[in-house]
Amino acid sequence: MTDQVTLTIDDKQIVVSENTLVVDAAKKAGIDVSVFCYHPKLKPAGMCRMCLVEIGRPMRDRSTGELILEAGGSPKVQFGPKLETACTVCVAEGMVVRTNTEKVQRARKDVLEFLLTTHPLDCPVCDKGGECPLQDLTMVYGSGESRFLFSEKTGREKHLPLGDLIYLDRERCIRCGRCVRFQSEIVDDPVIHFTHRGHDLEIFTCSEPGFDSYFSGNTTDICPVGALTTTDFRFGARAWEMRSSASICPHCPVGCNITVNTRREATANGNFVIKRVMPRQNEWVNEIFICDKGRFAYHYVGSRERLTRPLVRKNGKLTPVSWKQALNVVTEKFRRAGAGLHTLVGGHLTNEDLYNLSALTDALGGVKVLCSFMAGGDLVAQVGVGQNTNLAELGRGDAILVVASDLEEEAPLWWLRVKQAAERGATLLVANPRPTKTERYTSHTIRYEYGAEAKTVQSLTGAKNPAARDFAKARNAVVFYGSEGTDLAASENLARACANLLIKTNHIGRPNNGLIGVWSSPNEQGAWDFGFRPISGLAAKLQTASAVYIVGADPVGDNPSLAESLCKSGFFVVQDLFLTETAELADVVLPAQSFAEREGTYTSGERRVQRFYPALPPLGDTKADYTIAALLGRKLDVKLPGDSASQVMLHIAEQVAGYNGLDYLKLAEVVEQWPLMERIKPYYGGTSYENRQGLGVQLVPSAQRGAEIHPHEIVETSGGRGEHKGFLAVPVTRLYDQGRLVMPSLVLRPRIPEPLLLLHPSDATRLSVRDDLEVCVSLNEVTVNLRARIDDTVPLGVVLVPRSQGLPIFEPMYIEIKPKEVITS
Ligand code: SF4
Ligand code: FES
Repeated sequence: MTDQVTLTIDDKQIVVSENTLVVDAAKKAGIDVSVFCYHPKLKPAGMCRMCLVEIGRPMRDRSTGELILEAGGSPKVQFGPKLETACTVCVAEGMVVRTNTEKVQRARKDVLEFLLTTHPLDCPVCDKGGECPLQDLTMVYGSGESRFLFSEKTGREKHLPLGDLIYLDRERCIRCGRCVRFQSEIVDDPVIHFTHRGHDLEIFTCSEPGFDSYFSGNTTDICPVGALTTTDFRFGARAWEMRSSASICPHCPVGCNITVNTRREATANGNFVIKRVMPRQNEWVNEIFICDKGRFAYHYVGSRERLTRPLVRKNGKLTPVSWKQALNVVTEKFRRAGAGLHTLVGGHLTNEDLYNLSALTDALGGVKVLCSFMAGGDLVAQVGVGQNTNLAELGRGDAILVVASDLEEEAPLWWLRVKQAAERGATLLVANPRPTKTERYTSHTIRYEYGAEAKTVQSLTGAKNPAARDFAKARNAVVFYGSEGTDLAASENLARACANLLIKTNHIGRPNNGLIGVWSSPNEQGAWDFGFRPISGLAAKLQTASAVYIVGADPVGDNPSLAESLCKSGFFVVQDLFLTETAELADVVLPAQSFAEREGTYTSGERRVQRFYPALPPLGDTKADYTIAALLGRKLDVKLPGDSASQVMLHIAEQVAGYNGLDYLKLAEVVEQWPLMERIKPYYGGTSYENRQGLGVQLVPSAQRGAEIHPHEIVETSGGRGEHKGFLAVPVTRLYDQGRLVMPSLVLRPRIPEPLLLLHPSDATRLSVRDDLEVCVSLNEVTVNLRARIDDTVPLGVVLVPRSQGLPIFEPMYIEIKPKEVITS
């Protein structure tokens, strides 16, 4: 507990903790000190001098150390001859700060004048115009004229690409260093730096490819001028033209809070389109940051490939029909199917969709299937992190275990939060068969062979090795488990082993303790909570199904061998955004709305239920998935709520365990967060949006509700990986892949690798494979060509295959590899 200090700022007496910077103390008192280089999430740098203030300190008698008092008895305060930077000075007892004296105003005016000696006056075409502190502060504090000559402005070449995603306008840069400091301090990708000196000082990138970081877009938010802009948005719209809608990122289980900016666009026939995606503050989830996938991979929403009308197969061809016709065909088949109905869902559906789909399937007596390669959502509901968890509170004395996951690739903001916890002193244990970036911060690295994940975690229970001891004695402990190298059975075992570790070391049932699943999509945890489960032997089950209802999933795209089974089923309908590989084979295709065209909720991996709002009007004849399910229900005599998502949530709150008492108003509640994100205030945290639309509600896991929790049995599995010959191909998740939600984003294309596999140098030598050479992979009698990348982090005898990158495998299996030249010779 830090000591409290009383000081006076502009005649206002305030009490703050002793390590507070003057600039933050002033903000807490409602007083804005103008800043450029200071950012509340970065260490102070004192580079711009915009925050100069007068600071007085109580005088003390040099011989006695006693305070010298005024005649009235108050301490005598002495002001120094010079102004001081409020962003580098900490508060002190009795300090007196003046932020708006004539001296301060003159200094501010001078600083602005100096900054404008190099900064161009191109606000009318600058993307930051309208949300630029330099523009705003110049209007408020700047001089109407300059002592410098316009002709002496540097006039450097503009629009320098730092990489595929970010452009630098050199003459706009005010050398505050926020971007450089963000990349090294916050995300540990020090890929941009300053070069040269004086007026020639400029930003450059030192990585290949340029600005190689998954977090690069955040620098454009915190750059206080328009020096850094995104390839995606630059010259796209003016800040004041756009509407803002609160939303949740639809890509991964972190659930980053975002704002979707939209505008009517001439090139879209005057319709609203998404112009950019920005972070929205939620200090419990993503603070004020998002990753570049969340920022740039929204283009699928506006893709011309989107389905806009229902389709029914007639004479072998999918033909557009009315909703009425399509629903008639489907309901007739579903009625006949009854218990033979199999409903397959994906992890991108909302809780409202899942509720209605679950209720419909249950009412018909059908089977509920989650298309996923990962298990354990029921265990997360039991021993997941407790309500009021905030990873930002983990530090010295706490422990985090990350197992079978490359966290930065799979859930970048969790990587950031775990990194920060380790920097605050938390013990980080990383268990994986190969090194990942998370290991830069690890206290204990645990290596195991693919297949030994559960055993490895089990060995941490009760063992006497330092890693196990550190975990057991931690005040708080969190386990992130992923699915790298596990099939469904192994994933179940791994989740059980992780849950057991937490149970046995008494790290369940309270905030900042428990299990987190690193799912591959935003709402897989929700799907588990609504009773959907992944099943093994899906192919055989589909063959005997009388009707299959596939919603928001592409099982054939993930695993082409399922195509035959699906075609053998009595009838199957696909409900999706696109004509996926599965949809192409379907009897009926129903067009669904994307997250941007409707409202709903997702349950994050930390089991925080978060609400998103519509940003765009509905596209064509599309409908929300929960509405389609309700329409089918109506025809099948199953009463389901379908008029609004909030109405469905009321049913969820009544009937779904753990979700009791939720409603859309509760999900929209906010509390004041620090730092205050007031986008256009002089105390400037960047263009990240403040959160006025809801912080969500974290569900209470059953362990926290007092349920009795016992360890779970680990079942020996055979592995099911086929014949043990050739290489063990392990699917791994990469942030950018060739999936349907990423490919429509042209700005990300240069960052998406072509279909490839990674293998160890010794294996490459053995196979006579060189780096970048095409190889042939034989799998289930299919041969695929992939580019080989030699990587010494890959274990011997293993090849890593990025998911959605050419080789359709969803769980580890043995494959044969031959260099292409050998085949052709
Ligand atoms: Fe500051 Fe922006 Fe220049 Fe980076 S590019 S130093 S954030 S002005
Ligand atoms: Fe304080 Fe730049 S020196 S904000």
